[in-house]
Amino acid sequence: MNLAVKYRPKTFSDVVNQKHAVITLQNALKTMNIGSAYMFTGPRGIGKTTLARLFAKGLNCEKGVTADPCGKCENCLEIEESRNVDVLEIDGASNRGIDQIRELRENVRFTPLKGRYKVIIIDEVHMLTQEAFNALLKTLEEPPKNVVFIFATTEPNRVPDTVKSRTLRFDLRPLEKQHIVERLKKVATLESMDFESDKVLELIAEASTGGLRDAISLLEQAYIYSQGVITLEKVKELTGILPQEIYLEIFNSILDKNSKGTVEIIERVVAQGYSLEDFQKGFVRAAEALLKAFYGLEKNEFTILASRFNEFQILFLLRVLKDIELDLRSLSNPKIFVDFHLLRLSKIESELELLPEVNFINSSSSPAIKNGTAVRTTPESLISETPSEPSMGNKEAPPKDIIAYAKEKLKLKEVKNGPY
Ligand SMILES: Nc1ncnc2c1ncn2[C@@H]1O[C@H](COP(=O)(O)OP(=O)(O)O)[C@@H](O)[C@H]1O
Ligand SMILES: [Mg+2]
Ligand SMILES: [Zn+2]
Repeated sequence: MNLAVKYRPKTFSDVVNQKHAVITLQNALKTMNIGSAYMFTGPRGIGKTTLARLFAKGLNCEKGVTADPCGKCENCLEIEESRNVDVLEIDGASNRGIDQIRELRENVRFTPLKGRYKVIIIDEVHMLTQEAFNALLKTLEEPPKNVVFIFATTEPNRVPDTVKSRTLRFDLRPLEKQHIVERLKKVATLESMDFESDKVLELIAEASTGGLRDAISLLEQAYIYSQGVITLEKVKELTGILPQEIYLEIFNSILDKNSKGTVEIIERVVAQGYSLEDFQKGFVRAAEALLKAFYGLEKNEFTILASRFNEFQILFLLRVLKDIELDLRSLSNPKIFVDFHLLRLSKIESELELLPEVNFINSSSSPAIKNGTAVRTTPESLISETPSEPSMGNKEAPPKDIIAYAKEKLKLKEVKNGPY
């Protein structure tokens, strides 16, 4: 049984976290103010297809146009199973050519057979060819009566502006961990699945990169794999994912400059049977959560810890992440280097200490790179040699836009070999 499909929201009120889209769509249905093209954007598994089908049901429910489709009539049921004659679901990736769009244009000229509207849902619409987009645009410019287009895409920037500007666009929000956990709890309860503790659901949420669809599928897998109560242990085995607490521990120990402690944690991780690749993957996720917490984009388990970091440490953390990844790929015995990179991290206390690191990340004109070879420089030499860089060497004036700064600095780093 595919639980992700089974628990696709049947009503607008059951949709998690997409309030702005839900309210606007429901209002459109209530007031019969129906646009001719909509676009739902956002990563996988956050409700694009779900909302498209709900809207189609709202238009064609046998109750009449409604903000609360019944979900039970023939039209609603058929739409749910994507087999309704008036609601066409097209995969843009496999129907990307001009011919398919021409065919579609022919098709929309005929009136709906069973419902009031023809609804054309094009998934991953950014995959269409330029010609196909042009043909589509012609239809959008003179939309036939009672036809509604709904485009879904994970990459809205690849959709031509001319097409985008003809649509009412909803940028759906990625689901936060807490939303995913709540939804998983609901599904588990309705399915009478026993789980050890909420930690199990948290770990599943952390492991699923593809929004709710993946999370629910993983829950299902974990249930089958556990044959009874879903335990943390089983989920760890199944996903190879390390719980985020490990990274909280590591970050704390780095900030405490507890080198021994840091190395011990890595030893423990390896002793528990995790691979360094697993460690690295989890590390990336943890760093991402830390970054979001640091800039206040999200409240999560790293929020308190984040206040102990400064921006330069955050910047350097990204550098270390990348170094670990490169070493894992290229070295036959990378373990010692993983330890080493983490220890580098604990050495960085202030912006000043970071200067050689940042500069070496920087460019070949930097004093840290001489004649194409990286050399260790002291903060003092940098201060005297790079007076033109306002933020460098001046502790009172850190760069204003640290993200742009970090991006700029990190851009060049892969081509250089480190001083280590
Ligand atoms: N916002 C959401 N609220 C509730 N369930 C959701 C939500 N987003 C995704 N899901 C779950 O994930 C599954 C896939 O969602 P879907 O709408 O097809 O995602 P996509 O954005 O990739 O089109 C649904 O069947 C449902 O179980
Ligand atoms: Mg979809
Ligand atoms: Zn209905």
